[in-house]
Amino acid sequence: MTDAVGNGVGDRPESVPHNGQSVGDGLQSVSHTDSLEPILRLRGVGRRFGGVQAVRDVDLDVAPGERRAILGPNGAGKTTLFNLVAGDFPPTSGTIEVAGQDVTHLPARVRPKLGLARTYQKTRLFPGLSVVDNIVLALIGHDGVRLRAFPSRGDRARRARARLAAEQVWLGPKADALVRDLSHGEQRQLEVGMASAVEPRLMMLDEPASGLSRGERERLTELLVGLPADVTLILIEHDMDVALTVAGYVTMMHDGRKVVEGTPAEIRANQMVHEIYLGSRFHEEGE
Ligand SMILES: Nc1ncnc2c1ncn2[C@@H]1O[C@H](COP(=O)(O)OP(=O)(O)O)[C@@H](O)[C@H]1O
Ligand SMILES: [Mg+2]
Repeated sequence: MTDAVGNGVGDRPESVPHNGQSVGDGLQSVSHTDSLEPILRLRGVGRRFGGVQAVRDVDLDVAPGERRAILGPNGAGKTTLFNLVAGDFPPTSGTIEVAGQDVTHLPARVRPKLGLARTYQKTRLFPGLSVVDNIVLALIGHDGVRLRAFPSRGDRARRARARLAAEQVWLGPKADALVRDLSHGEQRQLEVGMASAVEPRLMMLDEPASGLSRGERERLTELLVGLPADVTLILIEHDMDVALTVAGYVTMMHDGRKVVEGTPAEIRANQMVHEIYLGSRFHEEGE
């Protein structure tokens, strides 16, 4: 298994405050990302839904080019955190900055302009359309252009970009296949392709490995590891193997809080992580 150090990215910016228990013995590797302004900065972010405090007082700094995993059992608040960053709804407390801009109360549609792309935990593909058409629609959505009856030069350029994006996620041979004829793993690959086609600075993937077979998971892991080095990746993952292979740095959430942060090696060795995961496994068996 690949280790964090090998990635050369993803080390913690030195200013990150730790809310919970710190891991290891203060191992702070210095990387080129340390001097860079975080692409994502959360301060005291919380979100309440009626009586449920889904996210509590989260501080998070993600540096450009980092590969960050957000781990945690079901209900930990991971997806809510993504939705807050994506702007699906505002936080009930705290502030969110993307690329140095305070977006806390800005609508979701401005975030792609700041270079943010995300996928959803449940696939949102058009099953009756081809692989390329799905990517073209993602590009159109991102470029904010209107659909027209006759193809323009921009349309042809987008189609070419979409083909390239399909090849980059190893779907070149299936570029014209209908999405409903793809395997589950291929559909997840396509989602990564759609997110990366818009050339985001910050890509957020919500459980891309969920429901995949072992072989499909390995393939997806390889694909994520091979993403362009300048893309910042935040990956929510329930599957520890995928998360700890892809990520250079890991944030563990539990009960809405950020409880542990560390390198994959630190996370693997952390007792609290094991307890949280073992505890949750009893409830999730058979899912
Ligand atoms: N739109 C919503 N309305 C009400 N409760 C929600 C909503 N979204 C999430 N929650 C609740 O917030 C908590 C965290 O959920 P979620 O962010 O989906 O966790 P995770 O992605 O880590 O499994 C859960 O208790 C969930 O039921
Ligand atoms: Mg979730």
